[in-house]
Amino acid sequence: MPSTVAIAGITRKFSQCIIRAIQESPDVLIRGYCRSPHKLPRAILDSDQIEIIGGSFDDRAHIRRFVRGSDVVICCYFGQPEVMTEGQKYLIDACEEENVPRYIPSDFAVDYTKIPHGVLFPKESAKVIMEYLKSRKVKGAHILTGGLMETFWSEFFGIWNPKMCSMSVWGSGEEVWELTTYQTAAAYTAAVALDKSAIGVFRYIRPFRRLGVLLWDKWRIFSVGLIRKPHREDVIPTPDGGFLDSDSDDSLRVCLEEYTSTWLAMVGKTL
Ligand SMILES: NC(=O)c1ccc[n+]([C@@H]2O[C@H](COP(=O)([O-])OP(=O)(O)OC[C@H]3O[C@@H](n4cnc5c(N)ncnc54)[C@H](OP(=O)(O)O)[C@@H]3O)[C@@H](O)[C@H]2O)c1
Repeated sequence: MPSTVAIAGITRKFSQCIIRAIQESPDVLIRGYCRSPHKLPRAILDSDQIEIIGGSFDDRAHIRRFVRGSDVVICCYFGQPEVMTEGQKYLIDACEEENVPRYIPSDFAVDYTKIPHGVLFPKESAKVIMEYLKSRKVKGAHILTGGLMETFWSEFFGIWNPKMCSMSVWGSGEEVWELTTYQTAAAYTAAVALDKSAIGVFRYIRPFRRLGVLLWDKWRIFSVGLIRKPHREDVIPTPDGGFLDSDSDDSLRVCLEEYTSTWLAMVGKTL
């Protein structure tokens, strides 16, 4: 009998990657839930394998219809605390009512179980949902991927400054950062979703991760081609104790597209 995977918040990047990964398995039906089906690509709206149900995050009747008959519900919401906590509770309650056995919360994050309460507010909702699931008969499968590389390097994250070719980090600069890509994290999520026995907390995604350690210092970043020359008024210390000359020609700096391509090439992907 075909499995049915229900995905809430199906309109955007991560869920689209999950769909691509799930579609590699035969006999899987996908049901999607979102507030704005018109945003979906034609290929999804026209697919025989995918059914879309429209409704808001707090529309209990539509949510119940959305989860009904599915083997697992994956939440890909990424929004206000109300959506991440109340919105996920509505989904979990609907799973209880409709006897859906497993729920994959909208985690896909660093290991927040090691972060004390109140320290990292974006992960508070994830902690609330982990606790909420413990008291329910629907079983949680929490996927802790580490950071997603595409977001990590984005302006939104505020760590990497492409204009200055610099990073703002706290620590010695040699710490290991757990990073993976959207597509790799999604492939892992699809594998967990399709494995009916997969419940609990999943941290060890190494077989799916191509690059887990960030190349930190400027010399190593320079060596793999992520910067060609030091930026004006900037220096790159070399391993022999010297410095690379700074360059006043901005055109020699790597453009964002080339920079992203290089990183993706290191994890076996293309832009
Ligand atoms: N570890 C990391 O570094 C990292 C980085 C990025 C994302 N993530 C995780 O990946 C998952 C999804 O990320 P994404 O990048 O695909 O997120 P996204 O592009 O922001 O998409 C979020 C989804 O949530 C829906 N949504 C937001 N507010 C809503 C509301 N008020 N009512 C109904 N739906 C709402 C959006 O629907 P609309 O299209 O209608 O707005 C969309 O489908 C999340 O679990 C996020 O935490 C992890």
